[in-house]
Amino acid sequence: MTVEPGQVVLFLGPTGKRYLRMLEAGAQLHTHHGFLEMDAAAEAGFGATIPTHKGTPYTMIKPTIYDLIKGVKRATQIMYPKEIAYTLVKMGIGPGTKVIEAGSGSGGFTVALAYYVGDTGKVYTHERRDDFFKLTGQNLARYGLSHRVEQFQQDIEEGFAVTGADCLFLDVRTPWDYLAHIPKAVIPGAMLGFLLPTTNQVQDLLLGLEQGPFSDVEVLEILIRRYKTVPQRLRPDDRMVAHTGFLIFARCLAEVKAPGVKFKSKDDEETADEGQTESQPTEQDRDESGE
Ligand SMILES: C[S@@+](CC[C@H](N)C(=O)[O-])C[C@H]1O[C@@H](n2cnc3c(N)ncnc32)[C@H](O)[C@@H]1O
Repeated sequence: MTVEPGQVVLFLGPTGKRYLRMLEAGAQLHTHHGFLEMDAAAEAGFGATIPTHKGTPYTMIKPTIYDLIKGVKRATQIMYPKEIAYTLVKMGIGPGTKVIEAGSGSGGFTVALAYYVGDTGKVYTHERRDDFFKLTGQNLARYGLSHRVEQFQQDIEEGFAVTGADCLFLDVRTPWDYLAHIPKAVIPGAMLGFLLPTTNQVQDLLLGLEQGPFSDVEVLEILIRRYKTVPQRLRPDDRMVAHTGFLIFARCLAEVKAPGVKFKSKDDEETADEGQTESQPTEQDRDESGE
């Protein structure tokens, strides 16, 4: 089936060489083995093998979001698909979601967010450096995803550019410095996510989150162990990327009153505590109950 110009496609060469390109009418793809005509590829469709002018066969396939993330032109460390995948599910990101992000970096995660929020959602990404701001814009444009993203060249020290977002993700070195701005930027109960490379930074973030209004804090890391795909000698690869980063999640809670509900004042709580006789569960009780 013919592929329309404007679509991003992946050309696979015989030696494993990969070219991720937007199909352009009348354009050529220049490879290590000569050039091929994009019109011929578009006409032949996905799965077809197109020879370069030197006769080397290239196969055109439809890239997945994994290919798009891997193909991002990068000047910073980008988020790995394994962390991206868990984050998307954990934070409930899908069609229609409005998500705040900082920093944009090379736009690796921004591309994934834009892909998943669809045409009804929006990504509001913040980056303080001009070069990374531009690079993110270029990566989004290459994939035809710019219309799903609003980019702000802004230091989040000044706060976030929008309010009322469904969730927020920070991939910056000192996220604890910006926690105070978060409740104004998201809806009450919103999911928050953070990516940090060292345990020292995780500790500082946890201390910051303790100051509230944050709850349901989770810290984790994700390891992938690949296997050699030789059926007769099936065993793990010799090497693995053992550490990429820690993911931290929390909910942002704000005191929102349902109509007609009166919250107890601090004085009420103190009075109630004095009269309380039943003991509260201790840390040990929770451990023993397996919670
Ligand atoms: C590791 S990169 C983010 C990579 C990105 N998640 C990706 O997948 O491509 C961190 C970025 O955060 C930006 N940054 C750090 N602190 C910031 C701040 N206070 N405001 C805005 N951007 C900031 C840096 O300039 C850098 O580009």
